[in-house]
Amino acid sequence: MFRKRHPALPTPSVGSPAEGAVVAVWRPEYSPHDAPDGWTPIGEGAHRAVILNPARTTVHKIETEAGRNRREHCTLRGLRRQGYAYAPPTTLWTKPCPGRDVNVLAMPYLPNDGTTPTNACPRAGVVDLNPENITVCHGRYWLIDASGP
Ligand SMILES: Nc1ncnc2c1ncn2[C@@H]1O[C@H](COP(=O)(O)OP(=O)(O)O)[C@@H](O)[C@H]1O
Ligand SMILES: [Mg+2]
Repeated sequence: MFRKRHPALPTPSVGSPAEGAVVAVWRPEYSPHDAPDGWTPIGEGAHRAVILNPARTTVHKIETEAGRNRREHCTLRGLRRQGYAYAPPTTLWTKPCPGRDVNVLAMPYLPNDGTTPTNACPRAGVVDLNPENITVCHGRYWLIDASGP
């Protein structure tokens, strides 16, 4: 049995079913000009493309390898339950599609903003050491990619 480091953190819902449904039909291999109206593609890694919603508050990750988004959601939710504040809240939105369901992961938009972090750099849950997977935003470190190597 693990001891909790800190009290569990809340896991609010991120994004909405409507926004999840809009981006679930967008594919990373499309040109940026094909993004849904008002949405902005902002990042790409080895396994996901990341697109920002029109309000510029929430990113959605579109996976190119099934299971990545669910894995990240479970890891970050587990870290929050253990009280790790650098784990952003996430919501997995599932759109039933012919052949296979599409899982889109919603997460707050946490760009590097040049602020100085006041919390400790993430360690637990960090398995892919690419520095782009950790940001500093609003004076805090955040682990924004926890889907595995
Ligand atoms: N929450 C976020 N806020 C701002 N940018 C993000 C966020 N999540 C991802 N990104 C950007 O998108 C890139 C790819 O996302 P990431 O989750 O690392 O995908 P992959 O699993 O393919 O590596 C990141 O390196 C980062 O630049
Ligand atoms: Mg990454």
